[in-house]
Amino acid sequence: MNVLLIGSGGREHALAWKIAASPMLTKLYAAPGNPGIAQEAECMALDILDHAAIVAFCRDKKIDLVVVGPEAPLVAGIADDLRAAAFRVFGPSKAAAQLEGSKGFTKDLCARQNIPTGAYRRFTDAESAKAYVRGEGAPIVVKADGLAAGKGVTVAMTVEEALAAIDACFDGAFGGAGAEVVVEAFLDGEEASFFCLCDGKTALPFGTAQDHKRVGDGDTGPNTGGMGAYSPAPVMTPELVERTMKEIVEPTMRGMAEIGAPFSGVLFTGLMITKDGPQLIEFNTRFGDPECQVLMMRLKEDILVLLNAAADGQLAHVSARWRDEPALTVVMAAKGYPGTPQKGSVIRGLDEAAATGAEIFHAGTALRDGELVANGGRVLNVTAMGKTVAEAQANAYAAVDKIGWPEGFCRRDIGWRAVEREAKA
Ligand code: AMP
Ligand code: GLY
Repeated sequence: MNVLLIGSGGREHALAWKIAASPMLTKLYAAPGNPGIAQEAECMALDILDHAAIVAFCRDKKIDLVVVGPEAPLVAGIADDLRAAAFRVFGPSKAAAQLEGSKGFTKDLCARQNIPTGAYRRFTDAESAKAYVRGEGAPIVVKADGLAAGKGVTVAMTVEEALAAIDACFDGAFGGAGAEVVVEAFLDGEEASFFCLCDGKTALPFGTAQDHKRVGDGDTGPNTGGMGAYSPAPVMTPELVERTMKEIVEPTMRGMAEIGAPFSGVLFTGLMITKDGPQLIEFNTRFGDPECQVLMMRLKEDILVLLNAAADGQLAHVSARWRDEPALTVVMAAKGYPGTPQKGSVIRGLDEAAATGAEIFHAGTALRDGELVANGGRVLNVTAMGKTVAEAQANAYAAVDKIGWPEGFCRRDIGWRAVEREAKA
């Protein structure tokens, strides 16, 4: 079959790597792709905002399945436009992608379906939001309603911080995404990410992971898109997975079907494991980046079988098998990230790093005069496996240390929570 993969980050490189390994694949295209993805696919300089051009490309190349990596095209309705032209798509409709595109939409669904999540209120003006915050006190969480590239959430430890966050949203710090604000109760516990493949009716559990959102060692400094991840997440015991399916994922699938927006694609459940059990922090409607990279390393199944089943409503008839060993990925970022990263510095030593057995996924690279250069904030995802998280961590950093890129940096403690757990066990 011919497959078109939409996106250009490390998540899409990992997907391309796994799709390319499928015996079902005839030809893989990526739009726009990156130099790492180009090792697995033919990269096309298509504008992914131009849905008509994507549809025309699919007709021309007889594409059998379109796999959409990032959230922005989903929220913009690319899956709807492709399906209207009779193409098969892995990814939710615009209506179903509201689970990621509007935090207020998701909180209202939780309220209707009795899904455990922090108490909340939605606001369209600063004064009422501030009055609510003053009444509730801190800690409290202020969220821009719409997509804000991971930057729209303030976990405020004081009332003053929360009031400032409300002003920032309504003053346009996040553009249209902040025109509405959700204020919600602070949840205390350990975070975990849980993934399901969905086909509108069935949700198939598809692994767990833990991400590291802060830029600095010891979970310090500003939030990022994620500086590293590992899978599985030890905190997600089989009992917690079962509770999450029953209490959060299945009611969500029912609730979405009830409003005529059945969910298909990846449902990425961001959880806080509190003393009362799993609580929903947020949904995303696509794979996590870099969580996808560690999931793809561990997946034993032919991914195209699963993506096809999701696209065709056949997930009830398939299963996913995983390697038991943990996988861990370290994000190498360009200095300056998550602020303005320096672009254009030369990266060397990838072959030496790969020779250690690690997979090096490209997140933000470009080719310039035959040399690989940094072309974004998060640039490389150095990914390895091991018998334990500690061993996977040692393997990943051994590969990191082969990479010659003085203008880059990474956290040196990815996986610390799990490594500590292993040391105690
Ligand atoms: P989000 O963009 O919704 O994933 O939020 C970013 C981060 O903010 C999450 O990964 C959590 O660390 C934190 N966060 C979000 N909502 C809450 C909450 N209600 N209580 C505590 N922390 C939260
Ligand atoms: N790594 C977090 C995310 O993809 O949203």
